[in-house]
Order: sequence, then C-alpha cells, then structure tokens
Amino acid sequence: MTKRVVLAYSGGVDTTACIPYLREEMGADFVVAMAVDLGQGAELGPVREKALSAGADVSVVVDAKERFVREFGFPAVRANALYDGQYPLSSALGRPLIGELLVETAHAYRCGAVAHGCTGKGNDQVRLDLTVGLLDSRLEILAPARVWPFSRAETIAYSEKFGIEPHVTKEKPWAVDLNVLGRNVEAGPIEDLSWEPTEEVWALTTAPEEAPDHPAYVTVGFDAGTPVSLDGERLPALVILERLNALGGNHGVGRIDMLENRVVGVKSRELYEAPGMLLLIRAHQELENLALPADVLGEKRRLEAVYGKAVYDGLWHGPLRAALDAFFDSTQRTVTGAITLKLYKGGVSVAARNAERSLYRHELVTYGSDCVFDQSSAEGFIDIFGLPSRVWNQVNGG
Ligand code: ARG
Repeated sequence: MTKRVVLAYSGGVDTTACIPYLREEMGADFVVAMAVDLGQGAELGPVREKALSAGADVSVVVDAKERFVREFGFPAVRANALYDGQYPLSSALGRPLIGELLVETAHAYRCGAVAHGCTGKGNDQVRLDLTVGLLDSRLEILAPARVWPFSRAETIAYSEKFGIEPHVTKEKPWAVDLNVLGRNVEAGPIEDLSWEPTEEVWALTTAPEEAPDHPAYVTVGFDAGTPVSLDGERLPALVILERLNALGGNHGVGRIDMLENRVVGVKSRELYEAPGMLLLIRAHQELENLALPADVLGEKRRLEAVYGKAVYDGLWHGPLRAALDAFFDSTQRTVTGAITLKLYKGGVSVAARNAERSLYRHELVTYGSDCVFDQSSAEGFIDIFGLPSRVWNQVNGG
C-alpha cells in the first residue's frame, strides 16, 4: 500500500524540510503540498516551485482569503472575540480553516494521512490536530517537526542535503505569522520581557507618535451583526478588512504587546498587529450596546470570553463553539446599524452611533420638559431593590 500524504505547506524552512523528511523517515511515497492563501502576501510567491523542487508530487495553492474573513473573521467579530481580553485571534482563526482544507484535499487526492510543520511547543499543532481529528478521525496525522531531532541550523543543513536552497535571505531574529486578520511576531529579542520592540518589528502599523496629525473618520455598517459596509458603500468581506487594516495601520491603531497563556501551559510574549479586526470589534461592541438590553449584553460579554478561549484552544469544530454561536446568532438579529469611529495617533473613539432598532430613548433619559420617565415610581423601586441587602444587614449586623 502506498502512503499518500497532504502536507499543510507555507513555503518556510520547516515545512519545506518536512517534504523530504516525510519521504525518507516517515514512509510517504506521495506528497501533496497544500498552501493556503489567507492573505500572507509576497510570502506565498514562489511556493509552487519551492514545494516541487523539495520533492512534492503535487503542489496545490488554495485562495481562501474571502472565505477566511467571511466564515471565520466576521463570526469572531460578532462574538467580539478577544483572547485574554486582548488578542483578536488572527492566527488562531486560520488553523481550523487550514485543517478543513487539509481534510478536503486528503479526500480529493485519496490520502490516508495529513501532515503539518508545527513544533510541539505551540498552539497551532493543537488546533490542526484537533480540527483534523474532529472532521475525519480516520486520517493519520504526521508532524515531522514535533519528532525530528533538529535545531534550526540542522533543519537548514538537512534541507540542503536534498538540494533545497536556504531561501532565507536576510533572516530577522523573530518569527512571523501573517494573514489578512493580522500579524503575529514572536521569539528572538521579544522573549526578553523588558525589551521594547523597535520599529522594524512592526510591518502593518505606523508608530502612534508618527501617525498623521489629523484624525480619520470611518463609518462601519453592520447587518445583523455582520460588517457589510464602509462609509455607506457595501463591500465584500475581504475588502472591508483590507481597507480597515490600511486605515488603522496608517493611524497607528492595532498594536498589541502581550504575555500570552498558551494551550500547552507556557507563558509567552507575543506581539500582534490587527488594526482591522480591532476596529471592527470596537464598532460592533458599540452597536450592540445600542441595540441590546443590559441583561442580554451582560450575558453575552461573559460568553464572549468563553468563545475566545475555545477558539484559541483549537475547538472551533467542537460543540461548545457551535452552541455559543447559536446564542450569539439569536442576539444579533437586531444588531443592524452604523458606527462612526475616529482614529487619531493610535487611539480609537466613537464619533457617532446609529442603530435601526436603537434602545436609546431620548424621551426617557432627557432632563427636558418632554421627559416621559415617571420619577414618582423611583422611591418604591429603590425600597424593594434594596430589601435583600437591608435584611442581611439587620440579621448580620452589617
Ligand atoms: N501565539 C499565537 C497563537 O497561538 C500566534 C501563533 C503564530 N503561529 C506561528 N506558527 N508562528 O495564536
């Protein structure tokens, strides 16, 4: 029986070395190198040639950018998903999609195994293994970089033995993961917790102090919780995100420097740039505040944190995420409207709010003569509202 494998291929040093390693050490006779375009730009250029010259039998490149934003990015915006209150899951959200495509490609090429180049220390291996296992548990999962004994230099030396050019021209001392939802940078000097990132670490954002002296305004339109327009113009999901990335990045919005709690138990310091996702979440939170009553909002905010952790942990295809999305779907039916954000030197504020079914009622809150709020009921309300606490204090001498 021949062993046919689909490898999730990025074109980087590790996944390229995986191709000969799968053949020589893991018994593969047929390797499909599958690269997924999630918006990593120039990085993906020579990916086909690289895969084939490293010994892949087939090179597949899937353009999944629009699907990525529509089926993963925007649902995460509806959930206001921020891991540990900060990270909009830009890298994490890519893995369940890559996992789905691995499974689809394995079926298309009659492969019994899938492979990836993740190491054993990160979250991505957890996400890919879980996704593949949840979608088709019969597929074998191979992770060469989790088992091979190589250091970085040895990986390059190993590749050279198979005629793979070390395409690393001027290697930066950190690792980057880029897609249209955001950019992650880790390792190297970032591991020193007192090192302040220098400007060359950042690629999508201008330093706030260097950003334009004039603010920018942008109006984000939502239909049932999903972003649909910018400044009144209806646009495809991918275009909305790309435009907000450019605008936010230019105004110094979207940098995150955080100490992250990885699934595998270690704390690691990570840098992110995700201007578009952060702007969308900010606008969406504001619109929800206008369209949802306080109790629904409170419960949703609590569940958003649970959702963020489930996605971070790689459980996109598990029942918890699906159940939470069912709750969120129910809350989003009335979240239609537009929020105008003001961007200025790294800061974001809300400049205008508009919901089709706004719960903000001027006649209830105004101090003007047209107020319809019956203040005479307040006294009795406060009396009963404070009753349980009063009783407790009487009984316990508080
Ligand atoms: N720590 C981040 C996360 O777990 C980023 C991972 C980036 N992946 C990578 N292969 N560099 O979501």
